[in-house]
Amino acid sequence: MAATATLDSAGVPSPGVDAEELAGHLLGVSRTRLGLTPLVESSWVDGYQALVAQRAQRIPLQHLIGSVQFGRARLTVGPGVFIPRPETESLVEWAVKAIAGVRNPVVVDLCAGSGAIAIAISAQRPDARVIAVERAPAALAFARRNVVAHVDAGGTRVELRGGDVLDERLLVDLDGLVDLVTANPPYVPDGTAVAPEVADHDPPEAVFGGPDGLALIKPQKQKRRTRPAGA
Ligand SMILES: C[S@@+](CC[C@H](N)C(=O)[O-])C[C@H]1O[C@@H](n2cnc3c(N)ncnc32)[C@H](O)[C@@H]1O
Repeated sequence: MAATATLDSAGVPSPGVDAEELAGHLLGVSRTRLGLTPLVESSWVDGYQALVAQRAQRIPLQHLIGSVQFGRARLTVGPGVFIPRPETESLVEWAVKAIAGVRNPVVVDLCAGSGAIAIAISAQRPDARVIAVERAPAALAFARRNVVAHVDAGGTRVELRGGDVLDERLLVDLDGLVDLVTANPPYVPDGTAVAPEVADHDPPEAVFGGPDGLALIKPQKQKRRTRPAGA
């Protein structure tokens, strides 16, 4: 197929799958049903070629489609938010096992991005209260949209908090109440070469974590609490 060859020569890692995903997106069918779809009109071909050309420029497939499947949830993504990766589903699996014996668990998801982890946990544990923390306003807007969509679709209890995970005041109200903390923080050392889709389209603050990648992961120095004069 010409589209696959175009994507392959542009260095796209999975050219055949992406060519089919784009075709399925334009036709409004899943990739696996393409073979059952009747022949298309020439205007469709123009639209398809335009999408393939954008993908050949290494614009992420998920940005062209506008969404990504994460576990059972379809999440809206686009410029300004990190695209959830399939491997992060194993963190969700681990988290759900970790709270298996806890009734009405309280879960905090740090660095929430699109809300993927928080929504996926909530979907599997509707009795959980999940608090998702994200600093970037653009990412938070996507998370809000995804949470609303999943509440409408059957109920999640995900609360979003805009803020910096290093701000020790942000979660004080939850002191002593939290059963589980999850996080997929930025962890790539600054300056590391990454694929064009990541370098040009994932927000840098979602990917890079300082010179050693550990800026958010290392224990932070506690601010010294000073006593008021005379105390
Ligand atoms: C690797 S992405 C993970 C997003 C999502 N949890 C996922 O797995 O798809 C990291 C996220 O952390 C956010 N972030 C980076 N530094 C932060 C900070 N200091 N406080 C809160 N969020 C932060 C970024 O904006 C980004 O959305």
